[in-house]
Amino acid sequence: MERTFVAIKPDGVKRGLIGKIVQRFEDKSYKIVAMKMMNVTPEIAAKHYEEHFGKPFYDKLIAFITMGPIVAMAVEGKNAIKGVRHLVGKTNPDEADDGSIRADFSSYSTTNLVHASDSPESAERELNLYFSEKEICNNYKNMFELVLDELGEE
Ligand code: PPS
Repeated sequence: MERTFVAIKPDGVKRGLIGKIVQRFEDKSYKIVAMKMMNVTPEIAAKHYEEHFGKPFYDKLIAFITMGPIVAMAVEGKNAIKGVRHLVGKTNPDEADDGSIRADFSSYSTTNLVHASDSPESAERELNLYFSEKEICNNYKNMFELVLDELGEE
């Protein structure tokens, strides 16, 4: 079981898409084990996107993620890091697979609605940046896990 970090960016919050976006993850079997609405400070934004410092889009990326609240989530499931990225779709919505969140809801690389960790290392770093261990609530099973339990499957 993997855990990844997901954020609904300020455009998703402002457009009233929180429910629809969360539903995509739950429908696919992923379990939300932490969730909070929060404002991203410039300090958190700089840590989050430190690998992109100096790139042409860096300033815009920081301005965007700090312009209004996000919904930060810890999401768990089988191969969740790769699977969640697939559900989110490629950075440029024009190149994202049909049915992905970005293809369905955006046309811009800037306002592309969702962030999702791109590797196990990023997931660990980003989860630690946004959540403390006591904010993670993995003391429940979702319906997918209960059915798998019945089958005796991991
Ligand atoms: S890279 O250089 O390939 O690693 O960059 P990429 O993974 O495509 O994008 C990294 C994050 O920057 C955002 N991005 C942009 N923001 C503003 N303007 C432009 N032009 C732009 N291009 C990329 C992109 O959405 C990624 O943010 P996250 O939150 O990781 O999805």
